[in-house]
Amino acid sequence: MKPIAFLAITAIAALGITHTSPSLAKVDKNCAIDKPGDEVSYEEAQEVYECLAEKMAKGYNKGNDKKRWVNADHVRDYRDWTKASTLPANPGFHSDRFLLTFVNETGADAYTKFEEGVTMPVGTVIAKESFSINGKGKAKVGPLFIMEKAAKGASPKTGDWYYTMVSAKGKPQGINVYKACHECHSGFEDSDFLAYPVEEVRAE
Ligand code: HEC
Repeated sequence: MKPIAFLAITAIAALGITHTSPSLAKVDKNCAIDKPGDEVSYEEAQEVYECLAEKMAKGYNKGNDKKRWVNADHVRDYRDWTKASTLPANPGFHSDRFLLTFVNETGADAYTKFEEGVTMPVGTVIAKESFSINGKGKAKVGPLFIMEKAAKGASPKTGDWYYTMVSAKGKPQGINVYKACHECHSGFEDSDFLAYPVEEVRAE
């Protein structure tokens, strides 16, 4: 192989651009990766996710008889819905967390067009798992974020979206949804207040 071609290939692999390149990073049994979170590629984040996935689902589903205003069925079922992102990605919003998005059957077709000008069908539910990786590579499960499209006029102040969230340990979180959620999501009014996963990881 010509040295220059070899250099190009290693450079691409180091940047984590190719989907086939084996990861250079190692994930240990505690799901920690041997590099800082802000240097982790999508593929490396996926390795961390695979390590965390079971613990994550268990945590979110703790105390499903005490979910109060959160619909426990959504928490139990979301992994069976359509995956709207192929790999976990950190868009720099949602407190610098890596995110993975799932949409229920009612909303799957409309959501996965990732277009402006959509109005999501009533009954659409979107769930988003989150985790963070700190500067030392230590991974931590974050909250599960949920948006549900309610009937027209049900919540005009939030575009008829109900926002809820449960902690990593399954606790329903009491939040001012206008301030904590909708104020930022209102920046995406042209797509029915949806921001969509970053382009590189959108499911086909
Ligand atoms: C600072 C801005 C900001 C705040 C605050 C915020 N979000 Fe988001 N949200 C985003 C962005 C940006 C995305 C798309 C991120 C991605 O997947 O890469 C998103 C995506 C989502 C999605 C997936 C649907 C979509 O928009 O594509 C859900 C569900 C969600 N957020 C719920 C919540 C909830 C619940 C809260 C409040 C607890 C909240 N968000 C607060 C910016 C925000």
